[in-house]
Amino acid sequence: MNPYQKLLERKRTWTPVQTTAGTLVEGAEETIYRALAIRHMELPVGDFITDALGNDVPKLAREVLQSNVQDEIKHDLALGYITNAIGVDEQAEAEAMRLRDAWVAHPDHTILKALVAERAIFFVLLPFFRFNGDAGLRTVSADISRSLIYLLLILQVELVPMKNYL
Ligand SMILES: [Fe+2]
Repeated sequence: MNPYQKLLERKRTWTPVQTTAGTLVEGAEETIYRALAIRHMELPVGDFITDALGNDVPKLAREVLQSNVQDEIKHDLALGYITNAIGVDEQAEAEAMRLRDAWVAHPDHTILKALVAERAIFFVLLPFFRFNGDAGLRTVSADISRSLIYLLLILQVELVPMKNYL
């Protein structure tokens, strides 16, 4: 069995569900809403990966990455359920949309953009949600972290060193 298949088999399937609003940690609310707005980066990350699948990815790694594109759709859905429950900050939403557009327009390789978004943004925000969110947000961020780790592994350990995108 190749190592990519092993990774795939270890992945747990999960289905996002609508949560109900609970209590956020006092004082963390503003940051939570700003961080939640960054969910608008989930689908672009999926698009970055899809884009790279066209040419630069070794055959064996394709299946794992395709499954990660599906994960990004789930992440977007799950965080959308959170905002259904606890609402959004309109200013933070508008700012996140501008950030997303700048990220999409940036000329770096899409593999590198996906890696940086996952490692520098989501990898940091998800534990923050676990420490400061309500029950729904804590569960969602744990589920996202579990699936995110496979994408990080494959990008960081395999693809980026191989192609020297950095
Ligand atoms: Fe994601």
